[in-house]
Amino acid sequence: MLAGSGYRGRVPFDQYHEPPEELGEEARTFARICTSLLEETEAIGWYAQRLAVEQDPEARAIMQNAQQEEFKHFAMDLEFLLRRTPKWRAALEQVLFTEGDIVELGEEAEEAADEAG
Ligand SMILES: [Fe+2]
Repeated sequence: MLAGSGYRGRVPFDQYHEPPEELGEEARTFARICTSLLEETEAIGWYAQRLAVEQDPEARAIMQNAQQEEFKHFAMDLEFLLRRTPKWRAALEQVLFTEGDIVELGEEAEEAADEAG
């Protein structure tokens, strides 16, 4: 999915909650990538639904390939955001790619984020 394509034509700048002209370039870029991350997540979910109902093997293979692309796009967007937000990275490091109780890990993540900044 082309970043931003899902929302073009509706409300063109709806990723902003503050007047865009009052936001610096860094904040606008951050907002754009946050929007892109949401769109990648949405696309992953759409492909999951399509795959749940599609029976044609060739169509399923295409959809699986496309969903795989969205995983990569999601990862790149997320990494961009985390490189610019150390507290967010600190929180995720406590939860992602771990095992155990997710809620407990989340509590630890909150502490880690506090300590990070
Ligand atoms: Fe995408």
